[in-house]
Amino acid sequence: MISTMSMNHRRHDAESPQIPEAYSPKPSKSWTSVRPIDYLLREQRLVFILLGMGIASCYFMLQRDTMIAVDHQHAAYNAMLDSTGGGHRISLETPTFPAIRSNPLITSSGGKIPLGLRRKALRVVVTGGAGFVGSHLVDRLVDRGDQVIVVDNFFTGRKENLQRHFGNPNFELIRHDVVEPILLEVDQIYHLACPASPVHYKHNPVKTIKTNVMGTLNMLGLAKRVGARFLLTSTSEVYGDPLEHPQKEEYWGNVNPIGVRSCYDEGKRTAETLTMDYHRGADVEVRIARIFNTYGPRMCIDDGRVVSNFVAQALRKEPMTVYGDGKQTRSFQFVSDLVEGLMRLMEGDHIGPFNLGNPGEFTMLELAEVVKEVIDPNAKIEFHPNTADDPHMRKPDISKAKEKLGWEPKIALKDGLPLMVEDFRQRVFGDRQEKIEPAV
Ligand SMILES: NC(=O)c1ccc[n+]([C@@H]2O[C@H](COP(=O)([O-])OP(=O)(O)OC[C@H]3O[C@@H](n4cnc5c(N)ncnc54)[C@H](O)[C@@H]3O)[C@@H](O)[C@H]2O)c1
Repeated sequence: MISTMSMNHRRHDAESPQIPEAYSPKPSKSWTSVRPIDYLLREQRLVFILLGMGIASCYFMLQRDTMIAVDHQHAAYNAMLDSTGGGHRISLETPTFPAIRSNPLITSSGGKIPLGLRRKALRVVVTGGAGFVGSHLVDRLVDRGDQVIVVDNFFTGRKENLQRHFGNPNFELIRHDVVEPILLEVDQIYHLACPASPVHYKHNPVKTIKTNVMGTLNMLGLAKRVGARFLLTSTSEVYGDPLEHPQKEEYWGNVNPIGVRSCYDEGKRTAETLTMDYHRGADVEVRIARIFNTYGPRMCIDDGRVVSNFVAQALRKEPMTVYGDGKQTRSFQFVSDLVEGLMRLMEGDHIGPFNLGNPGEFTMLELAEVVKEVIDPNAKIEFHPNTADDPHMRKPDISKAKEKLGWEPKIALKDGLPLMVEDFRQRVFGDRQEKIEPAV
């Protein structure tokens, strides 16, 4: 009995968990007692540190090589443009540089960045960015690496103008009317939203005035709230039917305040006033561009502007409509020249206003001759009575932009027109094909 009990007792002992010895931490060594060199050499620490430094150096060297390669590519492109006598971008589709577009280090314009440091991409809003000028501007900004938000109500703009950016994480498109306020976190605001052709701005004159006044107020309010720089695209129409020729920025204009064009002319004049008042009163950083007649791919067909009218009519074998005697003059700048000017103005230190236009002056009849040369030598001209308040002469004095922005247009009418004709040909005949194709 005793032996069974003692056996049981022993089994119990064997199965019971061992009680661990009381925990006793290692005696801590004071820092002064550990020599740094010993610490580094122990447990291969030095090897790991050297390895880490090696990997980091390789990474930064590779990044630098990529940037140098991109610089060479850029230089080669510019050299190509110089040798062809071209200016900035004269092709229909703006050239893209995959290395530039995908390299996160090259994100905004101007200035060198320290090796390996990521430059902050600018967040830029372009109102009216689905329109003719706006979409070309968006191309340049996106190619530069900026994050671009387009705000447009598609009154005259088209989504097709921005199609190449769909799916790009740096691009957003918002359907919004600038007459209503909008809150966005941005660094720069290019304010273009406004119908620009007489056909469109006369369509609903009150809405045109609202867009110019309320729209500009809303965008200036946004600029003030978020501390963004604001650029207004004003117009040569602020000079009205000018009594000075060519027009300098100091000229105050000769505008009919109650005419059929006043919704646009006076609307833009008020927009300029608001812009300067926000600058003086609320310290908003502002820029003002006064744009003269601009042409190029993506213009609205049949929008009543003389270049698009002539080109569309000549392509369709219809007579070109000349209003009045055709001796009134205009100057025509290619859209890439304008976009370059707008970007220089935004990035520069001068408020403006700046005339942005091509000083080469053509009568309507001379323009019709150039269009005939490019499209159809047999094209006919048809004379119609002139429209109300049509200015007789328009030619920018661009000395201020030359001096302060280092800008002047590079593309001559005879070089720019074929690029526009190609785009119109596709759209005019594409449109026609769509209409005659039977529905399936
Ligand atoms: N193209 C020129 O020759 C010329 C000359 C002088 C000034 N400008 C100015 O440049 C800017 C752009 O002109 P464009 O030729 O590209 O004209 P456009 O008509 O092609 O583009 C204007 C854009 O603004 C949008 N828009 C109009 N009203 C809007 C509203 N209330 N809210 C949101 N979006 C609105 C339109 O949908 C369109 O996308 C305009 O402000 C115009 O006054 C142009």
